[in-house]
Amino acid sequence: MSRINEPLSIKSVTIKNRIGLSPMCQYSATDGLVNDWHIVHYGTRAVGGVGLLMLEATAVAPEGRITPFDLGLWDDNQIAGLERITRFAHEHGATTAIQIAHAGRKASHDSPANGGKQLSIAEGGWQTVAPSAIPFDSAEIPPHELNETEIEHIVQQFTATARRAKQAGFDVLEIHAAHGYLVHQFLSPLSNKRTDEYGGSFENRIRLLLKIVAAVKTDWPQELPLFVRLSATDWTEGGWNLEETVKLSEILHRQGVDLIDCSSGGNISNAKIPLSPGYQVHFSEEIKKTGVLTAAVGLITTVEQMNSILVEGKADMIFLGRELLRNPYFPIVSTLRTDGESEWPIQYLRGK
Ligand code: FNR
Repeated sequence: MSRINEPLSIKSVTIKNRIGLSPMCQYSATDGLVNDWHIVHYGTRAVGGVGLLMLEATAVAPEGRITPFDLGLWDDNQIAGLERITRFAHEHGATTAIQIAHAGRKASHDSPANGGKQLSIAEGGWQTVAPSAIPFDSAEIPPHELNETEIEHIVQQFTATARRAKQAGFDVLEIHAAHGYLVHQFLSPLSNKRTDEYGGSFENRIRLLLKIVAAVKTDWPQELPLFVRLSATDWTEGGWNLEETVKLSEILHRQGVDLIDCSSGGNISNAKIPLSPGYQVHFSEEIKKTGVLTAAVGLITTVEQMNSILVEGKADMIFLGRELLRNPYFPIVSTLRTDGESEWPIQYLRGK
């Protein structure tokens, strides 16, 4: 049996194989609500055999959305649609996860399909927030610098969202602390110039994330896994870096985080990222040395690549993004089990 098909148990949850759908915004929602697109898109990937079905960055507050079309879970009326997805995915053997997020200064943009530019209030956007009044791109409207009361309120929004995620039937919760969104904006000294207890030293810059993790743990059941997605580097001199990521991962692990989802970049608009197959795997390899479980992600597209990452102990899970946009059946088609068991749903047995 290939390593990809080995189950992974974390706390009370057993993921049937090592392939996860990497969180990917669909920019298809209205008012944060699930619609037919989400049901079909996520349902197809569950039928396709992913072990872990991770939903896209789902906003903890309306103003935390990257675009007006993001999914949200800031209101109880958003639970029912998500629950349809988790129920169907569970019927097909997938473990379900949701990534909860606040976009901070990268909020209030149009969808990529519409060009992705910042939306002013007149264009249907809103005032963005951040640790400091520094825009992501110098041409953009600067964000409002959050005060301490507003920061505390955002921590509460994360924990209320975690409670709703549980009600919607998710097995795994992931806090989005990567890609230049609000939590990453606090981590990086390039976007965080604060002089209070949230800025300056490493201990101060990680404070928001640690507060979110501690608060979320009061609402997210202890027996269910908690993941954090981190950008291991800003890919920019003087920015957030791998050394700090490893130090933070150790602390998060001690705080009860089960897995670090190892990504990079997104906080600096002109960073040069050396893209190549598996270009982020070495981050996962370093972070895993702290003892925390890791997921590797980024330009991983073949079974051989996945197997060698797992066999060489560089990650515990492989998250696939664009490969699963191109081919939702990649897990069942390419990792066919050799032990006689079939992952195909009964409806498709004649197509095998
Ligand atoms: C993404 N990515 C992403 N990441 C994340 O943490 N939350 C998200 O909601 C999104 N949204 C998103 C949308 C789309 C259309 C793409 C293509 C990507 C990043 C994604 O999860 C993954 O890390 C990267 O795509 C790299 O992996 P692949 O695509 O090379 O396998």
